[in-house]
Amino acid sequence: MLKQVQHDQKKKIMHYFENEHIGYKNNQLYVEEINVNELAKEFETPLYIYSKNHFINQYKEFENAFKNINHKIFYAMKANFNLSVISTFVKLGSGVDANSEGELYRALKTGVDPSKVILTSVGKTKNEIKLGLEKNVLMIKAESEEEIELINKIAGGMNKTARVAIRVNPDVDAKTHPYISTGLSSNKFGVDSKTALSIYKRRKDFPHIQFTGIDMHIGSQITSIDPFVEAVQKLSELYFEIEKDGLKLKHFDVGGGMGVSYNSEKIFSINEFAERTIPLFKNLDCEIIFEPGRFLTANGGILVTEVLYNKINGNKNFIVVDAAMNDLLRPSIYHAYHHIQPIQKFDDRNEIVADVVGPICESGDYLARDREISESKSGELLAVMSAGAYGMVMTSNYNARRRGAEILVDGNKYHVIRSRETFDHLIWDEKIV
Ligand SMILES: Cc1ncc(COP(=O)(O)O)c(C=O)c1O
Repeated sequence: MLKQVQHDQKKKIMHYFENEHIGYKNNQLYVEEINVNELAKEFETPLYIYSKNHFINQYKEFENAFKNINHKIFYAMKANFNLSVISTFVKLGSGVDANSEGELYRALKTGVDPSKVILTSVGKTKNEIKLGLEKNVLMIKAESEEEIELINKIAGGMNKTARVAIRVNPDVDAKTHPYISTGLSSNKFGVDSKTALSIYKRRKDFPHIQFTGIDMHIGSQITSIDPFVEAVQKLSELYFEIEKDGLKLKHFDVGGGMGVSYNSEKIFSINEFAERTIPLFKNLDCEIIFEPGRFLTANGGILVTEVLYNKINGNKNFIVVDAAMNDLLRPSIYHAYHHIQPIQKFDDRNEIVADVVGPICESGDYLARDREISESKSGELLAVMSAGAYGMVMTSNYNARRRGAEILVDGNKYHVIRSRETFDHLIWDEKIV
């Protein structure tokens, strides 16, 4: 028998995370019109399930907030790179922000026009730069002077002109987890404003480059608008200096980073974000680019897992489930909070405080720590909420665990958009010598 929370705390503790597309009907969890329990029975757990219409709504909300200014959204596919997810956004008119050759390969597989792809990454290889130029992507975001020299050389060798935006590190504190803060001068990303200006001014030294943009991305899961405003103001000053020097940029890229609610916390709405930033953008005479990832996908996904065992070690309750850090890494590396709730609500369940842990041989393998949660029995299912961003993309085969399937729900239909890996996947192309 697991240790229970005092009964008088019961009401205070219990809450369920729901939104327009993921919620309970008759005490059973649904993604849109599809019963999660039935999907889990058919496809086993761990299982990722996404709501297509949540993705679409988030995109439209973003798009609508900026409809009165010259802008374009480039979905940051690193958040969720399943081909069907990328394609959902591409069909809505989105471009794609790709962070590696592999991401570029995936993006192009969806049929997106390369002129709607941006190539990012703090450490692009020669091959990545070559591929970006070969495919004629809209622009390559360069993050160091050495990289700019290399792009110039490679483009020259290919008889091409590379379109480049310099990623500027505005030295603004995004007040997010240190691992996903990217706009401080102590972070590895971009170059400082002074260096950027000097490169733009020396553009004649790079005859195979056309500088078409300026870029920033100050971090992820940012929950206040202020850091964005500060960074846009700083970057705008640079934009005007560049303009004064006779260079007219076509794109002002704000990056992504707009936060979402993981635990009923209040986050700014995209309309509030637009209200604060549009006056700043209106001063600029160019296209504003956004690269949201998490905002578009996080709350449109869940990870379903089965309870294997309940136990007490020392003074602590543990719920051992069949999903592990290889299936969802965020809690282990960022101490990220994901709400966990039952697929089937029961009125008579006690509340406990427990660690929800996976089967991997690491103490860091957990989905929740000291979590107030309703008691669940072996064989029952739990949903790890807000798993649509930085979930499946960070999975691994650690402990030779097979990755689960991904299902995309669209109203009363669902599609298997990736099957569970087979054991053959685990040893693909390995040899015993
Ligand atoms: C350059 C760049 N753009 C966009 C994003 C997307 O960020 P988010 O998912 O927080 O919107 C990232 C995430 O790390 C990024 O590195």
